Amino acid sequence: PPLFYGQAYGDATPDQSSLYGRNASWKFPKNFWWGIASASYQVEGAAKDEGRGPSIWDKFTRIPGYTVANQTGDIANNHYYLYRQDIARLAAIGVPAYSFSISWSRIFPFGSGQINEQALAHYDDVVDACIEMGIEPIITLYHWDLPLFLQEKYGGWLSEEIVDDFAEYARVVFMRYRSKVHRWTTFNEPIVFCGTYPQPVGYFKSTPIPGKQQPFYCGQSVLLAHAKAYHIGKSLMPNSTIFLKNNGGYKIPLTNSSDNAIATQRAWDFNEGWFWNPLFINGDYPRYLKEYVSTFLRPFTAAEKMSMKGSSDILAHDAYTASFYSAPDIGIEACMADNTFSLFPSCANTTNQYPEELGGWNVGFAADPTATWLHKATDWVPQFLRYMQETWKPAGGIAVTEFGFAEPFEGQKTMLSDIRFDYSRTMYYHDYMQAILIALADGVNVVGALAWSFIDNLEWQQGYTSKFGMQYCNFTSQERHFKASFFEYVAAFDAYKER
Ligand code: NOJ
Repeated sequence: PPLFYGQAYGDATPDQSSLYGRNASWKFPKNFWWGIASASYQVEGAAKDEGRGPSIWDKFTRIPGYTVANQTGDIANNHYYLYRQDIARLAAIGVPAYSFSISWSRIFPFGSGQINEQALAHYDDVVDACIEMGIEPIITLYHWDLPLFLQEKYGGWLSEEIVDDFAEYARVVFMRYRSKVHRWTTFNEPIVFCGTYPQPVGYFKSTPIPGKQQPFYCGQSVLLAHAKAYHIGKSLMPNSTIFLKNNGGYKIPLTNSSDNAIATQRAWDFNEGWFWNPLFINGDYPRYLKEYVSTFLRPFTAAEKMSMKGSSDILAHDAYTASFYSAPDIGIEACMADNTFSLFPSCANTTNQYPEELGGWNVGFAADPTATWLHKATDWVPQFLRYMQETWKPAGGIAVTEFGFAEPFEGQKTMLSDIRFDYSRTMYYHDYMQAILIALADGVNVVGALAWSFIDNLEWQQGYTSKFGMQYCNFTSQERHFKASFFEYVAAFDAYKER
């Protein structure tokens, strides 16, 4: 029989009875939605054009050393001007949905108040281009590029004043595209922009010490803003799917000691439960957040709890990785009181056992054949999706709204032929798609998937050095080239779609 990727590179037990993959019964259901994602600041460029106001990322990428080589999103992929070509390339390769974010500071250059009609006209055409080319547009309202004015006016997400400003921005965008756009992300990964990114872009690790609490004030504003926007959106578009998406990996206790089990649970609470409990369970924080954090947060009112509970139509999770968790050596109380912020926010030690020299990412694919079981998506993604289904029981199912892989050392490749043959990323997608099929076959209600990303772009603080694209971008000529992984990703859906 012919040799398939999986066999050639040591895939466990290929099933010879099916042409592609291992199990002839694997199927993506007819209504499964899938596509590819991007975010405004990472790809658009045109930072000063057509009335765009400054965002926090414009300011902070100018702080020397904040990003690798002080790179900024001023030009990026020039997608603001090249979107028609970019969307045409997606259509040509067979992608049915394109998820992009709208830049708030283009629509409201001052964060609130005056609306910039030119920006709305721009996104009109992005949406129309998608529809003309047979691609479903999916919109994210907030992918981290906060209008700078709101940061300076009241500290951005630290103030609950932002709830009304966000809701108004959401209302304007919902109104404009409600007849054409049916799936909406309110927020991208609050765990990251509230909890991981250092000040000034995020709210983590600020000094003095009260700053340690800032991520939770940020999260609180985000939850309230999300709920408010959700209800506005649903009243305008009752049949739409509106959701918040978060990021996090599968969490496995390092050993079966009870301390490690508690540390792992604490990590679930601080990472997933922080947002998923309010939205899917009871409008309130999970146990360990209540224990360690809610003492300084204003408690939610009964009305707020009600508005949050049930306010995400699906559970949308960006799932790149899996890690092992263990208790902090200094003990939980000492760790929580630790002013150096080590092990923030959950006070659980993590290791992904993935060698730092390979980029430090625990990927779903064993780039190193001797790597442990954890590195293959088929060995953790199905468990993770099942865990989320059983824990938060999302009525509308689960979507993997980002998954992808920054191939180690890809930035050092110089030959276009090598760049285009992105072998590890190709295997990553191959395994990940199998993992989703296994989860589906196992009865997990996975409803959609979006890969990150359609092109190499500005990877935030890593600048352009970390590459997640399924297309290469020559940032001098702005030429694009498909990489092998893109064909693999599209082929997987084609091979397994229910016919
Ligand atoms: C998550 C973020 O949403 C996106 O902006 C980022 O580029 C990717 N993951 C890769 O880190």
